[in-house]
Amino acid sequence: MRILSGMQPSGDVHLGNYLGALRQWVHGQGPESFYCVVDLHALTLEIAPDVLHEQTLNLFATLIAIGIDPDVSTVFVQSHVPYHAQLNWLLECVTSYGELSRMVAFKEKSERQEGYRVGLLTYPVLMVADILLYGATHVPVGDDQRQHLEITRDVAERFNHRYGETFIVPVGVQPRVAARVMDLQVPTRKMSKSVSSPLGTIYLYDEPADIERKIMKAVTDTDGEMRFDWEHKPGLANLLEIYASFSEESPQDVAARFTRYGDFKKELAELLVASLSPVRERYREVRADEARLRSQMVSGARKAIAVAEPVYERAARAMGLLQI
Ligand code: TYM
Repeated sequence: MRILSGMQPSGDVHLGNYLGALRQWVHGQGPESFYCVVDLHALTLEIAPDVLHEQTLNLFATLIAIGIDPDVSTVFVQSHVPYHAQLNWLLECVTSYGELSRMVAFKEKSERQEGYRVGLLTYPVLMVADILLYGATHVPVGDDQRQHLEITRDVAERFNHRYGETFIVPVGVQPRVAARVMDLQVPTRKMSKSVSSPLGTIYLYDEPADIERKIMKAVTDTDGEMRFDWEHKPGLANLLEIYASFSEESPQDVAARFTRYGDFKKELAELLVASLSPVRERYREVRADEARLRSQMVSGARKAIAVAEPVYERAARAMGLLQI
């Protein structure tokens, strides 16, 4: 089993990122795991250069603060490994315009802005390159990345069929609960970095008072019945999944332990504060030592390049690019 996953340094890490993806990264860590801060992906939407720079360091520090050991797993920044952009080009020539324009994430993001960047359309191909370069068999991601995983499999299979067996065809892995954490104010919309909803989004480094306020104000429903039911009670179901994810129970079992929403929310807030405070403290320490972070980035990039280079070269050769 070989694991690869990536996250964009495009905003502060929120509870959806943490429960949907990052906690799975921690569980899956080992010498066969590759975790990547995908800074090239963050260029597909407007982002100020100094913000991107800062957030790349922040996200790298977050990966370490949540418990990923860079001496065990390979943790690196995408743009430090030139083969991502290079394989991206080869794979763009194996992908059709039609399949990219059908991507839901592209449709949603392109509708929100005029004159969107070409990179927003071709973004999934770069993600395919990220995954295939490392021969990943498993890709731990939240539910919103399913379509991108499908295209990864399609492109890998098409390449292998056209140019001979070159790539491993990976599968996506979602957590059992909280694979799609919803906005606390609009529980029919996913918690997101790009659509900001101040009360609806819990950030990993929110202060305890903010976490409590956001949980207590989270939208539920008026029937007052503690029951896990996404269709009729999405607000409560979302909170139950968040609780269940931290307490490692089923959402149904959590629901059965409470009779009143208020009591449940109070305990959920306490659970979140107790679980996230150590991460916040550790982050402050890790982020303060920038020299160390930079040297960890260098060794991560070296380890990543050693794996990615031969895979890229095999793909280039398979397509007929002349090697010297
Ligand atoms: P990104 O940066 O938007 O999100 C990072 C991870 O967080 C998950 N996630 C969520 N999970 C549950 N509930 C939510 N509300 C929620 N919001 C985000 C995402 O599913 C993701 O796992 N395209 C990817 C980045 C990427 C990548 C890759 C991932 C680039 N290359 C290679 C895996 C492998 C993205 O934009 O994730």
